Amino acid sequence: MATPTVLYNKEGPVAWVTLNRPHVLNAYNMAMRDELYTTLEAVRDDPEVRGVILAGAGERAFCAGADLTEFGAAPSQAIARQVRWERDVWGLFLGMDKPMVAAVHGYVLGSGVEMALLCDLRIAAEDALFGLPETALGLIPAAGGTQTLPRCIGVAEALDLLLTGRRLSAAEAFGLGLVTQVMPRRQLHEQARLTLERIIRTDPAALASAKRAVHEGLDMPLGEALALEERLAGGLLHQGKRGSRRAGRPAP
Ligand code: COA
Repeated sequence: MATPTVLYNKEGPVAWVTLNRPHVLNAYNMAMRDELYTTLEAVRDDPEVRGVILAGAGERAFCAGADLTEFGAAPSQAIARQVRWERDVWGLFLGMDKPMVAAVHGYVLGSGVEMALLCDLRIAAEDALFGLPETALGLIPAAGGTQTLPRCIGVAEALDLLLTGRRLSAAEAFGLGLVTQVMPRRQLHEQARLTLERIIRTDPAALASAKRAVHEGLDMPLGEALALEERLAGGLLHQGKRGSRRAGRPAP
């Protein structure tokens, strides 16, 4: 049987999703795309899972970008399929109402950066090295990077990284707000677990609503976004009242 390109381990309410092609620095190929899709669906649909950590196997990389050996090699039907999978995988990331933490180390290039950006929080090991080399290859990021990066670090910094393709260290990524914590490599996974465990102590509906308010709200004019926030806040209040009535307590 072929080695899985994505590993899925459940530790209580925490789902570990690990990119698993360490011999090629976890380069993202079509098999990985298909397996990531199936894994994320399983994560989404499993009521026991409260949150997700996305990591890379091996010592050298979280993900060194799209698998360059597949570029230009696929017949057109396969390219069409690739595009479809791409859209669906990124859609699954974006539609996930459970908190997602990316724990990145080593090379974090191209779609590696983009996958991390599709998570809610990014924690980096001190050895992480980030970059978006697509334009140097005659391409542009196609896993949302041209949109998620400026939303995360601002337009000027995003254009700098996208146009120059320059590499940046974990410390610089922290300075730009691309990652929220930097850890010694040996503490990376433990820190990701602690961070996620702290988050998922909270009410899942509140977490899902906070994610929706931020992600959807950023794409709306301020007035609409504030109305969305009000609706989501009202929905939680309503739910809370129903819950306290069921429990025989007066509503707050
Ligand atoms: N696609 C396919 N294979 C890749 C890969 C990718 N994106 N990135 C690395 N690999 C493979 C290498 O071909 C090599 O395989 P081999 O041992 O069979 O020759 C193995 O991973 C190790 O990489 P190597 O290049 O030997 O390591 P290095 O330390 O010399 O360089 C990098 C590391 C990341 C600088 C270099 O591998 C690189 O530039 N990779 C491509 C990054 C990229 O452009 N990604 C695409 C973004 S769109």
